[in-house]
Amino acid sequence: MSTPNAYALVTGASRGLGRELAEELARRGCSLILTGTNPRVESVAEELHDRYGIPAVARIADLTRREEVLALTADLNAHYDLFMLVNNAGMGGTRTFEEAPTDYLENILDLNIRATTLLTHQLLPNLKRQPRAYILNIGSMAAHNPTAYKTVYPASKAFLWSFSLGLREELKDTGVSVSIASPGAMATNEEVTARIQRQGFWGKATLKSTKSIARKCIRQTLKGKRHIIINPLSLALSCLLPDVLRTPLLSRIVKREL
Ligand SMILES: NC(=O)c1ccc[n+]([C@@H]2O[C@H](COP(=O)([O-])OP(=O)(O)OC[C@H]3O[C@@H](n4cnc5c(N)ncnc54)[C@H](OP(=O)(O)O)[C@@H]3O)[C@@H](O)[C@H]2O)c1
Repeated sequence: MSTPNAYALVTGASRGLGRELAEELARRGCSLILTGTNPRVESVAEELHDRYGIPAVARIADLTRREEVLALTADLNAHYDLFMLVNNAGMGGTRTFEEAPTDYLENILDLNIRATTLLTHQLLPNLKRQPRAYILNIGSMAAHNPTAYKTVYPASKAFLWSFSLGLREELKDTGVSVSIASPGAMATNEEVTARIQRQGFWGKATLKSTKSIARKCIRQTLKGKRHIIINPLSLALSCLLPDVLRTPLLSRIVKREL
């Protein structure tokens, strides 16, 4: 699956979906580079190394900071060969646009959009050195659903959707395959879990375990799948219901989270 000695980089691997994606790669024997904002990610790397016997290193970086993204990619390009880049680190939330602090808005844009773009741009030459390499971008069902009280988050995931498909086409004659996953709600942390609870029936109806989602994401990425669909029913509803009906409907559900 991977060239011996080449690593998979997973951003936001200290917890949540990123942690599960890292574990799924470890289970398949892949060497790992994991990133997070604090030393917790070092414990995850140690744990996966001990459990699966794979090389696993950790890097601490705040990916909302441009200079930290560029320092990380320079370090990785100097010391490691990569066969996979998983752009998982991302953030969102539910607030009225007017009352959202500027830091909150900028962090979403900087992490979800700028960090993903720069990491991919800086690491692509490294990935291209492998006969076969993979980029997995973790998008969201939100990309397909403009929603009030979230506004910037779905828009950032719509960016990732468009970016991934465009880049995939651009790289089609190379050994690098680009995939985008569109998970729906996942109870990955306390804040998201509380939000899902407040959404009521619809929040819980589409809930899937992060382990099964991670498994599907890695399996389909390695098969070179373009769009990794996690909740076919939610996607079908998004395609069938026109925006003029879907946006008010979803926004009413999301408003319960405020
Ligand atoms: N949860 C959902 O319902 C849901 C639904 C659809 C899509 N998604 C997407 O799935 C991905 C993972 O979500 P999740 O719920 O698993 O997230 P999570 O539990 O909140 O974990 C976020 C991860 O990203 C890292 N991170 C946060 N801020 C960072 C920063 N400034 N710089 C670098 N790393 C940072 C965190 O590292 P530290 O722990 O070190 O801070 C952590 O490892 C995201 O892209 C999210 O948008 C989530």
